[in-house]
Amino acid sequence: MTNGSGRRAVVTGAAGFIGSHLCERLVADGWRVTGIDCFTDYYARDDKLSNLAGLATEPAFDLVEQDLVADGWQASLQGAAAVFHLAAQAGVRDSFGESFGQYASNNLVATQRVFEAAGSATTGRVVWSSSSSVYGDAETHPCREDSTPTLPRSPYGVTKRACEDLARVYRTRGLPITGLRYFTVYGPRQRPDMAMRRICDALVSNATFPLFGDGSQSRDFTFVTDAVDATVRCAHSAAATEVYNVGGGEEASLSHVIATLERLAGRRLALDPHPTQRGDVHRTSADVSLARRNLGWSPVVPLDQGLAAQFAWVQDRRSSKAVSA
Ligand SMILES: NC(=O)c1ccc[n+]([C@@H]2O[C@H](COP(=O)([O-])OP(=O)(O)OC[C@H]3O[C@@H](n4cnc5c(N)ncnc54)[C@H](O)[C@@H]3O)[C@@H](O)[C@H]2O)c1
Repeated sequence: MTNGSGRRAVVTGAAGFIGSHLCERLVADGWRVTGIDCFTDYYARDDKLSNLAGLATEPAFDLVEQDLVADGWQASLQGAAAVFHLAAQAGVRDSFGESFGQYASNNLVATQRVFEAAGSATTGRVVWSSSSSVYGDAETHPCREDSTPTLPRSPYGVTKRACEDLARVYRTRGLPITGLRYFTVYGPRQRPDMAMRRICDALVSNATFPLFGDGSQSRDFTFVTDAVDATVRCAHSAAATEVYNVGGGEEASLSHVIATLERLAGRRLALDPHPTQRGDVHRTSADVSLARRNLGWSPVVPLDQGLAAQFAWVQDRRSSKAVSA
């Protein structure tokens, strides 16, 4: 893929799951990268610091620890050739109830502030992370950017949908912005609240996994390096596309994922059944022909390979914690 040639990129949410992989890829491509993250307490600071471990001694990477909702980080966008805005409060279930304020602040307010700051700094393209959650429980599959209605089923999805509206406003003011609707991204460093990660954690520690629904719910799973590749290609693309689906192309049920991980672990997972949770959709699947056509992007990591990589990472992490304890 095209070289960064020493140009500078800004990545918000750099200490997070996808953001840390993106920073590593950009540095490997020859970019100088400024990461911005405020280490929200959604999950442990130590987990986020270890996400950044591979970049700690990297001269082409620096970290600005700032909250996008406060001031102090805007100058770091000045002259950047690309801005990747991945910072957000993720997670569907927690977006109901009292914690919605976090979603409104870290998604809506933060995103508006990034678009505003990018508009007054001389940046190139702004690539930002929307979500498959904007589709809600779509009636037809696979979902297409231009014809599937966006009817989010969770307050989280609503914030991402509203960010798409914000992006449209700033695009009409001349800012080159493209959104990526990521479909369930997985792989090493996946957030600890996500189902695959919790299944892996339960298998390596012999714990029970709370199964919401009957396991037939399916997702279009996307391996993290594939999601990152689409993201990087987007920054290099001349196409003025508003939004792309980024899906791994291998839809699978949660039961299938559990069975695959059980095989990898060599043991059965103890399940604790619960009713479907509010906000959970039954199915997601992405039509990625627009990204294929405009970005030359295709997902390349098959689900069984990606699951093996994630499971191996969870095992390694557990072994190194046991050694250091
Ligand atoms: N992981 C997925 O499957 C998935 C799917 C669809 C969309 N997305 C989107 O992709 C992006 C990255 O997701 P992730 O899974 O890596 O999440 P993550 O929680 O691991 O990373 C997000 C990072 O943003 C930071 N952050 C949040 N609010 C901030 C603020 N106000 N100022 C500065 N930093 C802030 C957090 O500290 C965190 O490190 C998010 O926008 C998420 O909504 C993720």
